[in-house]
Amino acid sequence: MPDKGGFPHYMLKEIHEEPEALRATVEPRIAPSRDRIILPDVEISAAQFRALQRIKIVASGTSRHAGLAGKYMIEALAELPVDVDHSSEFAYRRPLLERNELVIAITQSGETADTLAALREVKARGALSVAICNVVQSTIAREADAALYTYAGPEISIASTKAFVAQLAVLYLLALYLAQVCDKVKNDFVRHSIAALLALPEKISAVLKREADVAGIADRFHTASDFLFLGRGVHYPVVLDGALKLKEVSYIHAEGYPTGEVKHGPQALIDETLPVVIVATRDPNDADSMLRYEKTLANLKDIRKRSGQVIAIANTGDDEIRRATEHAIFVPNAPELLLPMIEIVPLQLLAYYIAVRRGLDVDRPRNLSKAVLQE
Ligand code: AGP
Repeated sequence: MPDKGGFPHYMLKEIHEEPEALRATVEPRIAPSRDRIILPDVEISAAQFRALQRIKIVASGTSRHAGLAGKYMIEALAELPVDVDHSSEFAYRRPLLERNELVIAITQSGETADTLAALREVKARGALSVAICNVVQSTIAREADAALYTYAGPEISIASTKAFVAQLAVLYLLALYLAQVCDKVKNDFVRHSIAALLALPEKISAVLKREADVAGIADRFHTASDFLFLGRGVHYPVVLDGALKLKEVSYIHAEGYPTGEVKHGPQALIDETLPVVIVATRDPNDADSMLRYEKTLANLKDIRKRSGQVIAIANTGDDEIRRATEHAIFVPNAPELLLPMIEIVPLQLLAYYIAVRRGLDVDRPRNLSKAVLQE
């Protein structure tokens, strides 16, 4: 087993490896001219990709959360409809598959029994499949028609962190590649997106330098018995994973919800004892993102009025958020679809530091194993 590299736990070490995991995953898929995505390891032709009419993503746990973010990315860039399913649901019904449909199985380990069962069902029905996988030559990577690897390096901690960031990167690369081969985006947009993608590792390093801010928030809230996590649009899957991480390592009940849905029930839970984590980042160059942000800001203020304790993840320089809550973690700006790779980092650190404050076995939470090998 690799050593902990001077970190007290693998989970913290692996969070700190995220900049490198991103570089290793992204750089081999960028043409030297930096104006085109290339997928040299995928033996599916551009013509086959162009013929696609629909995409289905199957995965479990954190990998499914990456898939949900991938849906936003692929639909926004490539304009292809995407459905995302839990492997354990997909594998045990008679799922509908259309002609010219690609199925993407996402799995860190490449051995998850439910995802393998889902892939085998797809293959038996003759559909084209791609595995997004972190373990070279794992069963799922071998059985899919093509494998698109995340190069995050071995992940030892049961809570998946760097593999999630690498999965998001691969899904973004695939979305941009599809958009490129299907002529949905202009060359300038691709060039600009590639530059933004290559700038992400530095931005994550900047978030990691603010680790002490997150540890301070963990000190303040580690005794809470429940947490609510809210996010809108592509930030919604990010909060689902923030909530899952907290559940796994700290044993605190946590629920992720779309921000706009809070009024339809969960708001009954809000009082001064419930920490509400809201992702309120935005892309000032994207009008839709700003519209969603304005709505999120209104939700945040409303929760504050109802005495909710709000922990906001916002962009550096956002004084509105600074005024609205005393507990905010600020992260660098990026285009909307790339923000998940940055904003998940403080949520992973929050789960980690809360678990440490509660004296728990962070890397080996009770009742969990790294790969779920039985259906
Ligand atoms: C993540 O923190 C979890 N330990 C778990 O949800 C995991 O993502 C899930 O079991 C799927 O594993 P896989 O990616 O190896 O298929």
